[in-house]
Amino acid sequence: MDSHKQLFILLWLSLVLVLLSGLQAEASRHLKYPTKELFVFGDSYVDTGNSQKSKPGSWKEPYGITFPGKPAGRFSDGRVLTDFIAKYLRLRSPIPHKFRNIVSKHYLKYGMNFAYGGTGVFDTFTSGPNMTAQIDSFNQLIQENVYTPSDLSKAIAYVSVAGNDYNHYLATNGSLPGFPSFIASVVKQTTTDLIHLQSLGFKRIVVGALQPLGCLPQTTAESSFQRCNSTFNDLVALHNNLLNQSVAKLNQETKDHTTFTILDIFDSFASVLNHPASHNIKDHLKPCCAGVSSQYNCGSVDENNVKKYLVCENPESSFFWDGLHPTQAGWNAVYNELEKKGLHNILY
Ligand SMILES: *[C@@H]1O[C@H](CO)[C@@H](O)[C@H](O)[C@H]1NC(C)=O
Ligand SMILES: *[C@@H]1O[C@H](CO)[C@@H](O)[C@H](O)[C@H]1NC(C)=O
Ligand SMILES: *[C@@H]1O[C@H](CO)[C@@H](O)[C@H](O)[C@H]1NC(C)=O
Ligand SMILES: *[C@@H]1O[C@H](CO)[C@@H](O)[C@H](O)[C@H]1NC(C)=O
Repeated sequence: MDSHKQLFILLWLSLVLVLLSGLQAEASRHLKYPTKELFVFGDSYVDTGNSQKSKPGSWKEPYGITFPGKPAGRFSDGRVLTDFIAKYLRLRSPIPHKFRNIVSKHYLKYGMNFAYGGTGVFDTFTSGPNMTAQIDSFNQLIQENVYTPSDLSKAIAYVSVAGNDYNHYLATNGSLPGFPSFIASVVKQTTTDLIHLQSLGFKRIVVGALQPLGCLPQTTAESSFQRCNSTFNDLVALHNNLLNQSVAKLNQETKDHTTFTILDIFDSFASVLNHPASHNIKDHLKPCCAGVSSQYNCGSVDENNVKKYLVCENPESSFFWDGLHPTQAGWNAVYNELEKKGLHNILY
């Protein structure tokens, strides 16, 4: 055998070994902790269809133009965080609670999504169910034996608290000096909700950190989408610190010390927004879909059905879709950052 041939065989063998060990790592991740179901609670960052069809937003054009190609209840041009988490867990995106009685039963086996756009842990502007009410709806299904304790031991609960409580506070109270104590009460109520989920039987509960609110178009509009607002981002840091402390304390009080984890979407938003080009994002602060006269009007029409908004040409090169929500490309970039930092430690 000449040395070229030997080298070739050697290379080929090592390639096979690398592939095999990769497959094994994948398999062991999923065999060790086979997640069978995903249950989602929270707001528009994870809502995949629960919000009312009559309201502006997720069920109106141009929402959903990228996926599934028409408005279908997601607050984006396409997939949202829930869909990416489900993909990571190799599950179908869980069915919205609203559709539980109209879909065939086998769709229920991937879990369920109770999230409702605009809601918070406290009551906000929407009439949609707050976090407590969403968890109560879930509890109702346990009472009805739709889900059993053994299902829940193999499930993940994901909780999104993405800032509607704070928008509501700003609009109804607005006192900046009063903000820190309001943040403490939001984190306290979130903690109560996490304990409630644990008491219902979840062994793995993941809560999202708060994203940098000061970088959302609704805030950066004041600088023509040039700069994040550090005042708001400092307040977000306080929320996330308190949440960290609270979750650490909950784990200390739990037998296996690992029930609760935080999905750090603050860090991943920041990474993408600081290096948008490495994610093929051209517009990192300016939203793709915005009203002609206000950044809030994506999807709204006047009395003659004339659009009051404009949509950018390439949603895949914008991070933000509207005043509050990432595009599918934005979520994909956030997901890639999360994966890079070790999603297997969070969604294990
Ligand atoms: C959540 O909503 C329920 C039902 O509307 C209400 O009774 C409860 O006070 C709310 N909980 C919080 C924490 O705001
Ligand atoms: C609203 O603001 C005032 C100060 O203007 C403060 O005393 C009060 O506690 C705030 N309310 C809430 C719910 O934080
Ligand atoms: C952030 O926004 C608030 C409210 O609009 C404003 O009062 C504050 O000056 C802004 N902070 C910065 C650093 O731009
Ligand atoms: C929360 O804790 C994690 C590690 O457990 C850390 O990476 C993250 O920076 C913390 N976040 C805050 C806001 O302290």
